[in-house]
Amino acid sequence: MSDNHLKDMDYGTYLGLDRILDAQRLISAADPKRKGEPAHDEMLFIIVHQAYELWFKLILFEMSRVQEIFSDIPVADRDLRPVVASMERIVETLKLLVQQLDVLETMTPLDFLEFRHVFRSASGFQSAQFRELEIRLGLRRDERMCYGGHAYDVVLPDAAKAALEAWENKPSLFQQFENWLSRTPFVDTGSYKFWDSYRAAVYQMLDEDLQNSPAEDRSKIDNTRESFDELFAAEEPEGWRFSAKALQAALFINMYRDQPVLHQPYRILHLAMDIDELLTVWRYRHALMVQRMIGMKSGSGGSTGHRYLIETAERHRVFSDLFRLSTFLIPRSARPELPEDVQKQMAFVYEGAAA
Ligand code: HEM
Repeated sequence: MSDNHLKDMDYGTYLGLDRILDAQRLISAADPKRKGEPAHDEMLFIIVHQAYELWFKLILFEMSRVQEIFSDIPVADRDLRPVVASMERIVETLKLLVQQLDVLETMTPLDFLEFRHVFRSASGFQSAQFRELEIRLGLRRDERMCYGGHAYDVVLPDAAKAALEAWENKPSLFQQFENWLSRTPFVDTGSYKFWDSYRAAVYQMLDEDLQNSPAEDRSKIDNTRESFDELFAAEEPEGWRFSAKALQAALFINMYRDQPVLHQPYRILHLAMDIDELLTVWRYRHALMVQRMIGMKSGSGGSTGHRYLIETAERHRVFSDLFRLSTFLIPRSARPELPEDVQKQMAFVYEGAAA
């Protein structure tokens, strides 16, 4: 590219505005009943959807950087900074996506009826980028809600279907996190085993609680003990998405997050929870907005509409294990001290420091 070319560049050309701003076609104008007059709110409807797709594009772009870094084994510590930066950007973008529904809700259900019939079976259900996001985060085909007995991708063109299938065959962010967590050093150093010291601390805490509590609180403590028993009993505890090794590491990172070496891993777990929570909030908000707009009617894509969407909010979560893990956090007062040699291994040491 010549210098001249750079000088000639102007705002509109750089941003491709001729294409972007020419992409709002109000098809309601072609409805014979409207006699060439487009429905006023169709412009809002189109622009909001287009803006969503642009933000989806950014989220997927940021995910690519995160996933590329996590495909390295081991993941270099210095690369955790760009991971955190991209995940923070995804989180802020998701907040915007939730808020954006407020703009759409300035359209009333009656105004929506002016043009809903013109886009026929088109639906957000066919957003290939949204599906890519779900798959790359870690939602598996067998975990998806079935709608009308069909797979989610029957409504997509063949090329999009093939591209999504290719993503399904690559490691998702969830799997990459799981592998990364499973490799966490310090959880088992040979002489120190976090799981053993944590188990001993838990039962000591529960015994003390039992001794010190009034009789009416004892059944609560027994229930807590049962859930811990279940956690410790099985090699691979049932009902969790993460492997036992990854769960133990996530618990370790949560409990000892004050150690400098665990700051970034803790931040990453926290951001994964933010992403899961915000996507769930978006699903709920979208489902409520859909109920406000079309009540209990079926969706234009053929699902049961509101009912289907509400269920996806609870069932299409990817990092819910990280939330559930809080059941098993114990207070700092009951937390076992890390052995001195492990603490030393975890510390950042400035080599030039005076002895
Ligand atoms: C008046 C506004 C809207 C209505 C009435 C509406 C309605 C629906 C309905 C009923 C579904 C379920 C599938 C179906 O049967 O069609 C759906 C799915 C979906 N919509 Fe919307 N929608 C609206 C706005 C939006 C916006 C602004 C977006 C942003 C991209 C969006 C994205 C999606 C996505 C991604 C799905 C698939 C969700 C899933 O399967 O988990 N929708 N929508």
